[in-house]
Amino acid sequence: MSFDLILFGGTGDLVWRKLMPALFQAFRHGSLPAGGRIVGVARDDLSDEQFRALIKSRFDDVELAKRPSEEEFSRFAALLSFLRMDLSNPTDYALLAAKLQQRPADTVVMYVATAPALFTTVCEQIAAAGLNGPQTRVVLEKPLGHDLASNRAINETVRSVLTEKQIFRIDHYLGKPSVQNLFALRFGNSLFEPLWRRETIANIQITIAEDLGVEKRGSFYDSTGALRDMVQNHALQLLCAIGMEPPINAHADAIRDEKLKVLRSLKAWTPETLSQHVIRGQYSAGTIGGEPVPGYAQEQGVAFGSRTETFVALRTEIANWRWAGVPFYIRTGKRLAARDAHIEVNFRPTPHAIFKSPLANLNGTNRLVINLQPKDGLELHLLAQGADQRNGRGKPSLAPVQLDLDFDKRFGSERVGAYERLLLDVIDGRLNLFVRSDEQEEAWRWVEPILDAWSSDPAGPRPYAAGTWGPSASSAMIARDNNCWSEES
Ligand code: BG6
Repeated sequence: MSFDLILFGGTGDLVWRKLMPALFQAFRHGSLPAGGRIVGVARDDLSDEQFRALIKSRFDDVELAKRPSEEEFSRFAALLSFLRMDLSNPTDYALLAAKLQQRPADTVVMYVATAPALFTTVCEQIAAAGLNGPQTRVVLEKPLGHDLASNRAINETVRSVLTEKQIFRIDHYLGKPSVQNLFALRFGNSLFEPLWRRETIANIQITIAEDLGVEKRGSFYDSTGALRDMVQNHALQLLCAIGMEPPINAHADAIRDEKLKVLRSLKAWTPETLSQHVIRGQYSAGTIGGEPVPGYAQEQGVAFGSRTETFVALRTEIANWRWAGVPFYIRTGKRLAARDAHIEVNFRPTPHAIFKSPLANLNGTNRLVINLQPKDGLELHLLAQGADQRNGRGKPSLAPVQLDLDFDKRFGSERVGAYERLLLDVIDGRLNLFVRSDEQEEAWRWVEPILDAWSSDPAGPRPYAAGTWGPSASSAMIARDNNCWSEES
């Protein structure tokens, strides 16, 4: 099967940081279908050779094991070419049409890795140039819009020129092997399903912590913030994966229907929950790995006096029979104490304690930790009676122990990275791991009251020192339920 992959924004950050390394891995693994062309599209004045040299130089930043040898790169580079286009200029799309007609491919993937403001223009112009035939698939990066209305407007334009089957809205968290394993854990095994409900689960915590700051994306980030950048998409998709009912099969719409139901069941915000259950923060100067780092306000591209949040913690509930009353906590932020994404499922304590251990009565003594990154695996925390452990009165006491499963060790180099997997899925036309427009709209509908409340709140985000776990109000929020974040237990 021949394919053309057109990368709009071909010299941009995403292409060289994520897409090219992923495409090279797919090429190295032999999973990229033969007969493919990868065309970088941007305004830069580059020849094919210059584009290849640019991409080659950027592989220097890729970890050694994933870096191509000279020989490998020259074979990979044979797939690469460059097309100079001004995406806002309708006549330039004829250049693309001419390039594609040189060798009609079975599948044409248009990956729109540009500033979001160009999404609708690109889709409209692709159609105006007659490039939206059934063989075309369009990939749209997040964020798709900045609120519900803008998201709808983009979706409407895109749907007026393409069918839903041709639209691949990417959320790269869904492509992560660890998130695949979450689906496998829940729907490939029967062990946990009877326990996966309000009767046995006390609370669930989703943490996506980054130790990096905003890097070179200060100006983009400053108009986006953590709620739009991480919560509206990645964190809510994780919440769906944890909370959804088993789908009737593994087809895209069956999975997406169930995720949509979770989003629709999220408890509506009230003025009280907006003020008590949502915490926003912004990092100030601090230390990461022993090195001093500047505060958000000093980052390049950040507006003077910016009130953009770099941290969000919130509490919600899924209002349905399975989950009613179970708190779901989400937190995400930049410049936190560690790069650590995990989901913690805290089970209820035993209904009647016969051991004297104080641990036996606590929520979360039994807990399942789904490590997403940098560790990828499962930890099951239990209580055991160690032979030598006796409390002060000479009675046996319980001690915490854990079962530890490391997927990286188990599957090692066979694992396929998120973008590699998702790019191959687009080329194959598999929509399972992509987000449908109604899911996206529902997620915007749910976060919008938070955005509205913030815009009229004079207080602004709470400061937290870089290298910590965010503002103390985040710990206070969860402590009001007598719970605590994992690093505090
Ligand atoms: C992106 C956000 O979607 O996800 C970034 O725009 C964030 O701000 C990134 O850093 C995190 O992805 P990952 O795969 O590194 O956890």
